[in-house]
Amino acid sequence: MQEAETKPLKILGISGSPRKMATDFLVQEALKIARDKYGAETDYFSARGKKLNFCIHCDFCIRKKEGCVHKDDIAAELYDKMIWADAWIIGTPVYQGTLSAQTKTIMDRCRAVVARDPKVFLNKVGMGIADGGDRIGGQEPAIQTILNFYVINEMIPVGGGSFGANLGGTIWSKDKGAEGASEDSEGMRSLRKTLKRLIQTTQLVKRASFETEPESPTPGTPKEEDK
Ligand SMILES: Cc1cc2nc3c(=O)[nH]c(=O)nc-3n(C[C@H](O)[C@H](O)[C@H](O)COP(=O)(O)O)c2cc1C
Repeated sequence: MQEAETKPLKILGISGSPRKMATDFLVQEALKIARDKYGAETDYFSARGKKLNFCIHCDFCIRKKEGCVHKDDIAAELYDKMIWADAWIIGTPVYQGTLSAQTKTIMDRCRAVVARDPKVFLNKVGMGIADGGDRIGGQEPAIQTILNFYVINEMIPVGGGSFGANLGGTIWSKDKGAEGASEDSEGMRSLRKTLKRLIQTTQLVKRASFETEPESPTPGTPKEEDK
C-alpha cells in the first residue's frame, strides 16, 4: 500500500497538432498542473515536425508480433512513452468536426503495439482535450473518438463530470493559438476538471492493482484464454 501511494503517477501528454500553438499549450498546461499540483512525473510527444506514417494495413504486426513495419517517429519515440505511462492525455485540434489526421494516425498505429501484446494498455487511464476555432466546432465528436479509442484498447476513459466538463477538455481557441485558448475560461475549467478526474482515477487503479497484485495477472502478460 505504502509503495503504491508514494510513487508518483506517470502521465503522458500527446498533442496531435502539427503546430506549436493551442493544442500544444493545452496539453502542456495539463501536464504542468499534473506535476505542480499532483506531483506526477510527465512526458510529452508532439506531432509537430514528426514523421508519422499512416497504418497501411499490411498486417506485419499481426503476423510477426514484433511491432510496426514503419520505423518513423511513432515507433522510435512514442510507443515507449505510451507503455511507460499510467495515464494519457490526448489533445487534438478539431479538423472538419473531428480529430486531426495526425491524432488519428497515432491511434491507428497503436494496433501494432497491441498486436504484439494485447494487454499492453490494460487499465491505463485516458482523457481527451479538443480545441476548435469555433465555439461549437466539433470538440465533442473529437473527444468522443478519443474516448472510444481508449475503450477499444482496454483503457479506462474519463470525462470531467457534469456542470462544467462533461466529456473532457473542450476549448474554443478562436483560431488564435495559445492566447485564444487561454482566454476561454470555461474551456480551461473543463480541462482542469477532467485532469482532476484523470488523477483520481489513476490513483484508484494503481492502488487497486497494488492491493490485488498476487492474484491478478501483471498488465502486459495476458492469460492463455485471453490471447
Ligand atoms: C484543416 C482544418 C480544419 C479545421 N476544421 C475545424 C472545424 O471543423 N471546427 C473548428 O472549430 N475548427 C476547425 N479548425 C480550426 C482549428 O481547430 C483551431 O484553430 C485549433 O485551435 C488549431 O489548433 P492548433 O493551434 O493547435 O493548431 C480547422 C483547422 C484546420 C487547419
